[in-house]
Amino acid sequence: MQFQLTEEQEMIRAMVRDFAKHEIEPTAAARDEEERFDRAIFDKMGELGLTGIPWPEKYGGLGADFLTYVLVVEELSRVCASTAVMLSVHTSLVGWSIYKFGTEEQKLAYLKPMAEGKILSAYGLTESGSGSDAGAMRTVAVRDGDDYVLSGSKIFITSAGEAELYLVFALTDPAKKHKGCSAFLIEKGTPGFSFGKKEKKLGIRSSPTMELIFDQCRIPKANLLGQEGQGFSIAMMGLDGGRCGIAAQAVGIAQGAMDASIAYAKARKQFGKPIAQQQAIGFKLADMATRIEAARLLTYQAAWRESNGLPYGKESAFAKLFASDTAVQVTVEAVQVFGGYGYTKDFPVERYMRDAKVTQIYEGTNEIQRIVISKLLLADG
Ligand code: CAA
Repeated sequence: MQFQLTEEQEMIRAMVRDFAKHEIEPTAAARDEEERFDRAIFDKMGELGLTGIPWPEKYGGLGADFLTYVLVVEELSRVCASTAVMLSVHTSLVGWSIYKFGTEEQKLAYLKPMAEGKILSAYGLTESGSGSDAGAMRTVAVRDGDDYVLSGSKIFITSAGEAELYLVFALTDPAKKHKGCSAFLIEKGTPGFSFGKKEKKLGIRSSPTMELIFDQCRIPKANLLGQEGQGFSIAMMGLDGGRCGIAAQAVGIAQGAMDASIAYAKARKQFGKPIAQQQAIGFKLADMATRIEAARLLTYQAAWRESNGLPYGKESAFAKLFASDTAVQVTVEAVQVFGGYGYTKDFPVERYMRDAKVTQIYEGTNEIQRIVISKLLLADG
């Protein structure tokens, strides 16, 4: 068993750590406060090759593995979880689905410019009446000659409004329920496709979250991803990798809070010595670090399995479940280490605490992760 990163993985991680520190961290608090998305960050990530890490060079990618991508999401999350979720959805939900199920034409038309950082993508599965029960969607796509005509809406869509490409799931045969679900690649600006309510959120506030509205929106058949009726399994398989990305996001948020807590505990003096020297704080830091390391190992294991062609749905769910709970616990403790200062916006730990919560909710709540894990455990047995 190897616990070492390759030279290439170490190099990319160091490059991203430097980029995140100098180009993302300085504006993270202000973007959060102003709920401001900054497209220039995505553009710079494209220039650095970070927007298509696991895809082959012929599709504009870096040709690295899924674990490298996970390391990048973790590093970004140490300073800005909003930036990280943008990359996670773009890569492991949308990019992965096109890479695995797209035709050569679709890969060249969409995956390549995505990987090159020329277009940003978003993923439309959730609806107002179907969140955890993804198969209960109501959006329909009716075949009409060489087109499909979509009607319905999607909510809580990450990067909506800013993204140029949307992977949207709709029922082509409603009587068949999830077996009648199909996946479509839809460009921003298509007539009949508009944006609705923008959410005001507790955390990841510089990542826009909006509603997608389809009103007789005509999509060419060439933009069907995979086969008719294959949409639900494309959605579920995409989420296997997506959950690994969210686990990495949670690990990064927790590590960011940990880094800040250590620095503060060493500098802050009470009762005549740094609070880090007080056992109550020292033990707290030890517990935080232990949980983060366990979450990291689960996350890297899931990514490693993906990279090596092994089943990884259960391991991704393990990682997402444990890492998101870790992020919430660790960030709450980080605020406690900072005391009253931690409760103010003068320090970043309150932002980490707000950002951590959503990792227990999106890409399948942690209750859904338990359903996924228990189903797979019983199937294995
Ligand atoms: N891979 C491939 N196929 C899968 C699969 C997987 N991981 N999981 C399920 N399937 C297939 C099953 O084999 C089954 O196929 P058949 O009907 O052909 O036999 C089919 O899908 C239905 O499976 P289930 O009976 O298990 O489905 P279910 O209705 O009980 O629901 C669920 C399963 C796991 C609860 C699913 O609904 C789910 O994942 N819900 C959560 C939805 C979710 O994660 N949403 C996230 C939105 S995206 C997001 O959050 C992005 C963001 O903003 C950051």
